Order: sequence, then structure tokens, then C-alpha cells
Amino acid sequence: MIEVIQTISHMHQVADQLRNAGDRVGLVPTMGYLHEGHLSLITRALEDANQVVVSIFVNPTQFGPKEDLAAYPRDLDRDLDLIEKAGAKFAYVPEVEEVYPEGFATYVNVEGLTDNLCGISRPEHFKGVTTIVSKLFAAVKPHLAVFGQKDAQQVLVIQRMVRDLNFDVEVVVAPTVREADGVAKSSRNVYLTPEERQDAPALYRALQKGKALIEAGVRDPEEVVRTMRAMINATPYGQIDYVEAVDMDQLAPMSALSGQVLLAVAVYFGKARLIDNVWVEVPRKTPS
Ligand code: PAF
Repeated sequence: MIEVIQTISHMHQVADQLRNAGDRVGLVPTMGYLHEGHLSLITRALEDANQVVVSIFVNPTQFGPKEDLAAYPRDLDRDLDLIEKAGAKFAYVPEVEEVYPEGFATYVNVEGLTDNLCGISRPEHFKGVTTIVSKLFAAVKPHLAVFGQKDAQQVLVIQRMVRDLNFDVEVVVAPTVREADGVAKSSRNVYLTPEERQDAPALYRALQKGKALIEAGVRDPEEVVRTMRAMINATPYGQIDYVEAVDMDQLAPMSALSGQVLLAVAVYFGKARLIDNVWVEVPRKTPS
């Protein structure tokens, strides 16, 4: 039977029991409405941890004032069932008042990395993410935590936070899970109309094309981005937020593609904003 934990004090008690028993504890942080992508994170956590806690918390501080906090899809009973079937024994499901009580005033913010890509249209988003992830680390006391590559900027920001604040937590990155036509699994895919859903594979097609251009020797980021933009703009419903080819360490633009490159896109389809990315390793030029 899955154990549902709702308070921070109860979570601390369970975390201490697990650690004292010598268990290796894995955390899979989620906002619920689970899909196969989340289940793959649980499976990944169980490879390196013998006890896995899945948190379900729709975190208000990472939503902007005009975003979909109230409408965010929720189905706790179904989520608990899926978590249990995936093999995790604990679900941490705190209320908003438990996490952010009256007078809450402390935030964690990673500078620089959060200014670009999603940080432009969602300026407070990552501050909310790093704050809640810090609070989840403090409550669950995990040895490792698993995040999906689909949220590449989130992964890089959390890795930087863990490094800078010396959290004793291993950040594990799990590959993006996709539908048969390449669309990355996301809780927000439920917002798509059938027509928008037909256009959605353009994101991954554009990313694959960008990757293929780089692999064929193109080193000009503008050429790669222009081609990707044209493919997404050719769809009737997609409205580009950004299409970028940036260096993976700083998420900064590059004059020539080299080293670890992140190709990342964010596209609005009606009220849904979908993101996706691929990572490309470009051999660095060795001086002759
Ligand atoms: O990726 C998500 O679902 C959220 O950003 C996270 C990491 C659970 C924090 O709320």
C-alpha cells in the first residue's frame, strides 16, 4: 500500500526512519496529473534508490499571474494508483498552506541561467521552482532526485543551485518520453485541440532538423535557428515564443556552435505553451 504523507513533520519522520534503516532515498518531484514521462522518472529513481518518494504539489510560486495555476489538471486518486503501480511506496502531497504558511518570506534564486529562454516570458518561474525544490529536499532528505530532460533549463538551474548551495543530493536526468509522433509527453498536452495536436509534432521535427544540420557540419547558430523557426512557422496554429541554439553551460548565445549545444523551443498552441529540446555534442576545433 502506498503511504500518503501530507505534513512536513510526518515527512521528516518517514525520511529519518528510511535513512536510519540504511535505505537510499530517491525523490521524484511532480505537479501531479502523471503521464508516462513521470512514470519513467520513478523507474529511473528505483534503479539507484531502494525507496522512492514521489511529491505531488502544484506549486503556486512558479506560475505567473496570467498562467494556468487554477486550471492546472489534477487527479490525485489516479496519480496515487499510478505511483503505486510504478513501484514507489511514498507520496508526499502537502497542502499549499503547509508549504507556504502566512508570513513565508524566503526564496531561492539562481541568477544568470534564469534570464534567458523560458526566463524571458516567465520571469518569476525559476525562482518558484528552485524555492520549492529546496523545500522538497529539506522535507524528503533524498540521496538523489530525478528530473526530466524535457525541462532542460530547469535541470541546469537545479544543478547550479545544488552546486552553489552544497545540497547533498545527486541530480539525475532522465530522457524525454515521447508520443509515437515525437510530441514530448506533458501534462499540458491535454489543453491542445485536435487541430493544435496535429501541429505539435513540428517542435520535435524542427529540433531533429536542427540537430541534423549541425551533424552535417553547420556551425552558424542563426542558420540552424532560421531553419527550425521556418518549420514551426509553417504550421497553422503554432506561435513561437523562442527557438534557440545556446551553449549548455551558460545558456548563452554562441557565435559558432561548439561543445555541448542545447537546441530549445517554446511554442504556444492556443492556451498551451509547449517546450522541447535536444542536446547536441559538437566536436571542438583543435588548434592545428
Ligand atoms: O517539473 C515540474 O513538474 C516542476 O517544475 C517541479 C520540479 C515539480 C517543481 O514544482
